Amino acid sequence: MRLWHIFYFDFEYLVEGSLSLFITFEGVEGSGKTTQIQRLKKYLIQKGIPCKVTREPGGCPISEKIRKILLNPEHREMVPMSELFLYEAARSQHVKEVIEPFLKRGGTILCDRFSDATVVYQGYGRKIELKWIKRLNQASSCGIKPDVTFLLDCPSEVGLKRAIQRNQTLKQENEERFEKEKIQFHQRVRKGYLALAKKEPSRVKVIDTRVGEDKVFEKIREIVDHLIKIKTPNSKLRTVNSFRRKAHVF
Ligand code: TMP
Repeated sequence: MRLWHIFYFDFEYLVEGSLSLFITFEGVEGSGKTTQIQRLKKYLIQKGIPCKVTREPGGCPISEKIRKILLNPEHREMVPMSELFLYEAARSQHVKEVIEPFLKRGGTILCDRFSDATVVYQGYGRKIELKWIKRLNQASSCGIKPDVTFLLDCPSEVGLKRAIQRNQTLKQENEERFEKEKIQFHQRVRKGYLALAKKEPSRVKVIDTRVGEDKVFEKIREIVDHLIKIKTPNSKLRTVNSFRRKAHVF
């Protein structure tokens, strides 16, 4: 079992509720997405809301293989266009195999990065024209847009330092191609995220992670509670009585 299985190894519930939410988490490297996703998952399960945690690139066997190619630090010669198409390929598979069917069955998805990451990393970071990225994103996501996106924000230097430390502690090998980018790249990425949030303030919620893990989660919880309230039919939550466990092992 690999490390990511611990975070993303998930239970798939037989969905009886009809609350379908698509929640994404974005941020610079080391912004603490994984911790907040796990906290939110626990919170939603306690509330009886069927939910599934997944990630991009990855989330299903083919896309996890693409992830390995994308993040391998030995692939220094990868050109920005190949990188873009690989992210889009991973997303197409993930959306069709995991996201779309689960949402259709009335489940809630918590996704670690989605199309916004392509806009900022390949657009702002690699400087590929945004209009191409938008069209490809539209195609690969089948037009699916998050109900809410939490942008966990901190200065790029702070996040990067945290990400490098985490990789060393967890001995996370072969996933450091982006951590090895120059600081200017990461600053462009952060600028891109903040620009996106400014453009779509009702969807993209910026949370400064320097206030600490608990306060960050409080804000996330508040926003999700509100979303649940407005999305629940007759504002009455249906609980899940029966569930079946299905492990995803890649
Ligand atoms: P993670 O480390 O948060 O799992 O994300 C993997 C890396 O992939 C991270 O450095 C951001 C990058 N990325 C892109 O460059 N474009 C994308 O479309 C996505 C989803 C991730």
